[in-house]
Amino acid sequence: MKRMLISIMTLVFLTVSVAGLMGAEKGGNSRKGKYTFRKSCRECHMEGGKAQELSPANKTQAQWDAVFAADQYKSLACKAEWEKLSAGDINDIYAYMWDHAFDSPSPAKCK
Ligand code: HEC
Repeated sequence: MKRMLISIMTLVFLTVSVAGLMGAEKGGNSRKGKYTFRKSCRECHMEGGKAQELSPANKTQAQWDAVFAADQYKSLACKAEWEKLSAGDINDIYAYMWDHAFDSPSPAKCK
């Protein structure tokens, strides 16, 4: 009985750590990302801005994965804007977009 309990505990612990690692791989701090996105991207990507309005809910998680895939930004018209940011900042924006994507549990519009 005690053994079984230990195995179950170990399993739970492992699952939680792996999930944690995967989350860390997705990287980024969503709250910081929201701030950075507003500061660095929204000046153009808003209604009436120079570029199309962009909010997390404009794309699905798979679509955001594609946008933030390695070096993909280099094909965008605003590549220079991305290059002003650190990899960490971009990862934070990725986390924010992904966490609040169209098909996420909490889709968000930027106001
Ligand atoms: C100086 C203005 C400007 C800034 C700042 C800017 N962009 Fe852009 N962005 C554009 C323009 C112009 C296009 C191409 C036309 C369009 O898509 O509206 C574009 C295109 C894009 C696209 C492709 C369109 C799509 O829907 O897939 C994405 C994604 C994007 N930008 C994300 C970002 C992110 C993230 C940031 C902040 C790091 C950012 N942009 C900052 C002007 C800007």
